[in-house]
Amino acid sequence: MSFVEYSDFIQDGDVAIVYLSHNSVMPVKVQQGAQTQTRYGVIRHSTDLIGQRYGSKVTCSKGGWVYVLHPTPELWTVALPHRTQILYTTDIATITMMLELKPGSVVCESGTGSGSLSHAILRTIAPTGHLHTVEFHQQRAEKVAEEFKEHRVDHLVTVRNQDVCQDGFGVTGVADAVFLDIPSPWEAVGHAKAALKKRGGRLCSFSPCIEQVQRTCDALSDHGFEEIDTLEVLLRVHEVRTVSLPLPDFGSDSEEAPPAVGATEHPSVTMKTTTPPRRMPGHTGYLTFATKPRS
Ligand SMILES: C[S@@+](CC[C@H](N)C(=O)[O-])C[C@H]1O[C@@H](n2cnc3c(N)ncnc32)[C@H](O)[C@@H]1O
Repeated sequence: MSFVEYSDFIQDGDVAIVYLSHNSVMPVKVQQGAQTQTRYGVIRHSTDLIGQRYGSKVTCSKGGWVYVLHPTPELWTVALPHRTQILYTTDIATITMMLELKPGSVVCESGTGSGSLSHAILRTIAPTGHLHTVEFHQQRAEKVAEEFKEHRVDHLVTVRNQDVCQDGFGVTGVADAVFLDIPSPWEAVGHAKAALKKRGGRLCSFSPCIEQVQRTCDALSDHGFEEIDTLEVLLRVHEVRTVSLPLPDFGSDSEEAPPAVGATEHPSVTMKTTTPPRRMPGHTGYLTFATKPRS
């Protein structure tokens, strides 16, 4: 198992994702002889997990069942232990696309936080790219480095425990893209420019508040960045419902009444329709993108 390569069978030492229900998943470190408690009963690693196919339905001791899934960055994002606020897949998808990340890309990131975005970047840039990630909180830096090792992606990433605003990313002139998720990104724009390859390269900064965006845009402009755009990604999931609507009654003068479906007394038509959500999770943050000039 690796977060950047698929395996068919669960092995001792893997990190598997136990799917309990929609919106409820938990990561499990698979260990010979270990047990995991779930609300459906115990999962015994030696018999229930090791040697089974990823995707299998596993019956727990109380008779309920779960699915055991191969880890992906998307599943990790919803299963990971939170040490900070994290980025979710809706924003991550746009960041990946707008930064033009691909296998082989060299990326600089700060702060690492809980590593939600980092795992998605690693999957995209594997097998030949590299992520340089900077986190000034020592325990967070150590924990995420441990997770990268457990997830077998540590060969693709360098974790640096330093202040990006003071000490930069630890590399110069190599990055295809830089991503910032820190409270004062404008203080790191100079370091981001230095980390990017000599010509070209993309930058993205995530900030919850528009005042942060304003200061970042000013700094980007002062440092000669071009194509500065800020956007916000709002996901609106429509609910699909079946509704029954009464057919209009055009009165006896109407030449041709529409054919009735079902009952004749109150003719109605049944159809699928969608409704937008009355409430939805809205603002996460603003994404500001910019390009380092090619000349
Ligand atoms: C919101 S979290 C990042 C979450 C991350 N994008 C994720 O998806 O998991 C912000 C992180 O930036 C770190 N941080 C804040 N200022 C920093 C700085 N100047 N240098 C390095 N890290 C910094 C914080 O310690 C925190 O862990």
